[in-house]
Amino acid sequence: MDMSGKEDIKNLLKISGYSDIAIEYFLEKVNVGKIDNPDAYFVHTGPCGDTMEISLAIEPKSRVIKEAKFQAIGCAGAFSSGSAITEMIKGKTIEQAEKIEEEDVIDWLGGIPGQKIHCTCLAKKTLKFALNEYKVV
Ligand code: FES
Repeated sequence: MDMSGKEDIKNLLKISGYSDIAIEYFLEKVNVGKIDNPDAYFVHTGPCGDTMEISLAIEPKSRVIKEAKFQAIGCAGAFSSGSAITEMIKGKTIEQAEKIEEEDVIDWLGGIPGQKIHCTCLAKKTLKFALNEYKVV
């Protein structure tokens, strides 16, 4: 993507009500990817039809999340929420990560357009499912 294309997208997202951090996360694809042989993994499709996948590397003794990546088929809200939640949980224990709610993701991003709040829910739910999978194995 050339610079002017990036600027155009930035401006459009700004007009739509996305914060600077959300725009940066979306454009820089922060933590987008997949961990090879993850300790925890889940793919979840939300009611909007968008899908998120989260993979985690977890230190078994301390139960600390060492690495977190996500991929999404979804909107800018899904991508900025995925980046935010994966940033938020690095260095946290499973128990701390489980307590993260939509509002925490929204606070971290410095706000999100009202009609995009459910996108943070997609990120939160996918994370919770991934952590649950880890706990039952
Ligand atoms: Fe579905 Fe944003 S519209 S996650």
